[in-house]
Amino acid sequence: KGRVKTLWVCSSCGHTEGQWWGMCRSCDAPGTMTEVLDGDSNDGKIGGGVSEKVGSWLPKKEGEVLPIRLKDVQRVLLMLRPGLFGNEVARVLGGGLVPGCLVLVGGDPGVGKSTLLLQVAALISEGCDFGGPAPVVYVSGEESIEQIGNRADRMDIKTEELFLYSSTDIEDIIQKAHILSPRALIIDSIQTVYLNNVTGSAGGLSQVKECTSALLRFAKKTNIPVLLIGHVTKSGEIAGPRVLEHIVDVVLYMEGEKYSSHRLLRSVKNRFGSTDELGVFEMSQSGLQAVVNPSEMFLSEEYAGSEVLAGLAVAVTMDGSRSFLIEIQALCVSSSTVSRQVNGVQASRADMIISVLIKQAGLKLQENLAGLLFIIFLEFPIPNNIAFIGEIGLAGEIRTVPRMDKRIHTVAKLGYKKCIIPKSAEKSLATSVYEGMTVVGCRNLKERKSLEF
Ligand code: TYD
Ligand code: MG
Repeated sequence: KGRVKTLWVCSSCGHTEGQWWGMCRSCDAPGTMTEVLDGDSNDGKIGGGVSEKVGSWLPKKEGEVLPIRLKDVQRVLLMLRPGLFGNEVARVLGGGLVPGCLVLVGGDPGVGKSTLLLQVAALISEGCDFGGPAPVVYVSGEESIEQIGNRADRMDIKTEELFLYSSTDIEDIIQKAHILSPRALIIDSIQTVYLNNVTGSAGGLSQVKECTSALLRFAKKTNIPVLLIGHVTKSGEIAGPRVLEHIVDVVLYMEGEKYSSHRLLRSVKNRFGSTDELGVFEMSQSGLQAVVNPSEMFLSEEYAGSEVLAGLAVAVTMDGSRSFLIEIQALCVSSSTVSRQVNGVQASRADMIISVLIKQAGLKLQENLAGLLFIIFLEFPIPNNIAFIGEIGLAGEIRTVPRMDKRIHTVAKLGYKKCIIPKSAEKSLATSVYEGMTVVGCRNLKERKSLEF
C-alpha cells in the first residue's frame, strides 16, 4: 500500500494507460496523455480491487439484478415543481429528473453551483405531480450545515423535508442517506469526498473515479437520483469532471462571466434527452432566478436600450458542442495616428476579413482602419434583435458553418427576431421552424438586401 505508480491519462477523454503514448489510443487526440501519480494501482486500472468492499452496504436481493421485461420498465420522470425556476432547470435536464440517474453539475469555483443545487434540492423536496413533500438530502464536504442553513435562510427556503449533512466519507454519506430513503441525494462536491480503501487524497483521480462509481451504483440500485457538483479548474484539470463525463448519465455545466450576474446552465451530455438545452439565470440576493427575456444579457448596456449603435453586431460561434453568442464591436476613424488594433480575435484572421472587405465588398479601408465590420465604415447601425451566422470566404461569399441548426436555435432561444445565415444553408433548414424569428439567406458580402432592416 502507498506505492506510487505513474499513470498516463488522456485529458480529453479520460482514457488511462500504463505508459506514455504520443496520442490517445481511445479518442485519437494527439498530445493529450498527461502524467498522473497514483497510489497502489495495477496495470493502469485505477484503484483496483476496491469495488467489492464498496458494494457491501448495498442491499443484495436476487431479484434486483434480473433482466426486466420491456413493458415492466418504469418510465417515470420526476418533474420539478412548476414555476419559472423549476421549468428552466427541468428543460436543461430534458424534462425532469429520471429515477436513479447520476447528474454531474460542473463549473468554475464561485460560479454558483452550490446555490443552484440547494434551490433544486428545495424544489424536489417540496414535490409536485410525483407526490407531496419528501426528504431530499444535501451533503456538503465544503461547508458546515450552519453555513448552508444561513444560505437557505437568505434564499427563503422553508421546506420541512430538506436534510443537510456535512461529511466527506462516501460510505458514511450513502449509509445515512439510505436510512432516509430520500427523493434525491445531492453531493457538494465530488472533489471533497473520499472512499476509505482507495489511495490518493480526495480530489485525486482514483478517488474521484471510485467515489463516482460508488454513487452510480447507489443510484442505480436504489433508484434515488444523485446530483454531483464538480469543480472545473481553468486548466481543465485532469482529475476534474472531464474524467467523470463517461461515468455519469447527465452532465450540466454552469457558466458565467466573473463580472456579470448572468449564469448559463448547459446540458453537455444527457442519456435521457437532448443536449441542445440552455438555461438562463440571473443571480440575486435570494438565489438564482430564471431569466424570461435573455436576449439582452449578451449586449452592452447601450445596445440593449432603445438606441441603436453603429459598430456592434452579434454572431454565434461553437465551442465543441456548445454554442455561444458573441458581440463584435468595431470602430473606424480617419486618422493616421491610430494603428489597427484587434482584441479577442486573432489578428491574422481580422487582417484576412479586412482584406476581403476591401477587395470583395469594395470598401476603401486601406488608409485608416481600426475595425472589423464594413457596417461601421458605412455608419450603418444594426438593430439589436438581429444575429449573424456564417463564414466569410476569400471571394466574399458567405459560406455555411457546421451545426447551423443548433446555432440558429440558440439565437431563437435568446429572443432574436432575425438571423442572417448563408444562402447555401437555407435548403437543409427548410423544415425547421424557429419560434418568433425569421431566417434570411445571404450569398455574399455585397448583398445588401438581407441587411435591409
Ligand atoms: P456558490 O453557489 O457558493 O458557488 P460555487 O458552489 O459554484 O462555488 O456561489 C458563490 C457566491 O455567490 C456565494 O457567496 C453566494 C453568491 N450567490 C448569490 O448571492 N446569489 C446567487 O444567485 C448565486 C448563484 C450566488
Ligand atoms: Mg460550492
